[in-house]
Amino acid sequence: MSDQLSPIDRAKYASAHCAADFVQDGMRVGLGTGSTAAWMVRRLGARVQQEGLRIIAVPTSTRTAQLAREVGINVVSLDEARWLDLTIDGADEFDAELTLIKGGGGALLQEKIVATASDQMIVITDAAKEVKTLGAFPLPIEVIPFGWQATRALVEEVLASVDVMGRQSSLRMNGDKPFVTDEGNYILDLALGRIANARQLSLVLNQVPGVVENGLFVDIADIVVIGHADGTCELRDLTSGTPEITTRQVDLGIARNIFSDL
Ligand code: 5RP
Repeated sequence: MSDQLSPIDRAKYASAHCAADFVQDGMRVGLGTGSTAAWMVRRLGARVQQEGLRIIAVPTSTRTAQLAREVGINVVSLDEARWLDLTIDGADEFDAELTLIKGGGGALLQEKIVATASDQMIVITDAAKEVKTLGAFPLPIEVIPFGWQATRALVEEVLASVDVMGRQSSLRMNGDKPFVTDEGNYILDLALGRIANARQLSLVLNQVPGVVENGLFVDIADIVVIGHADGTCELRDLTSGTPEITTRQVDLGIARNIFSDL
């Protein structure tokens, strides 16, 4: 049955499964959003059911909260948990320093708050998302609906002061209406092409009135788990500054049980 998964889904599953092994009994865990994170949530749910793993979890979106509850994970708010041991989440792009672009699923604000309120963040991904220079994936920024067109014009203006290739932005849509985030905001996707200095860009964007947060994660992620379609996953741990690399093999047969529930 796992053969029915596409190569990309097998890679995402392998990564999610590997990362879920980092979760230990008693931990407070942040749960990311997106298709890779959904595999991880299902795997954690299976561990709760099969091993009696006791965790409390803070989801980063209503979608993830719903899935986590469905698979039997104890969900609490970040205010109830106060601080987290670990957050596991996907990404849209990552570079060698583990700077990320996130927000493809529109949950960047809660994802950033939750990851920042965690001792450790593990990124789960497939190899195709690794880039030398960030920016091919459009950078999402969350903006307040009030005066969003003025905010957009200001964002495009300030982009002239930083080293990026493009400056065009587009309002994310959901059918013929603007996409609305869990926090009631809009998303602008910035077609930058190349981001020379993510730290600087992040600071500049967040100074524009109306911008709530941007999808650049700088100095937040510690470990990346890169899944491959053959079930191997490569772990790169940057906690000590220089990457420590290990490889593991995941049993893709287990995907069968999870997949049959979908
Ligand atoms: C959601 C995100 C996701 O983590 C990112 O879009 C990756 O998603 P997927 O695992 O489906 O490829 O940032 O806001």
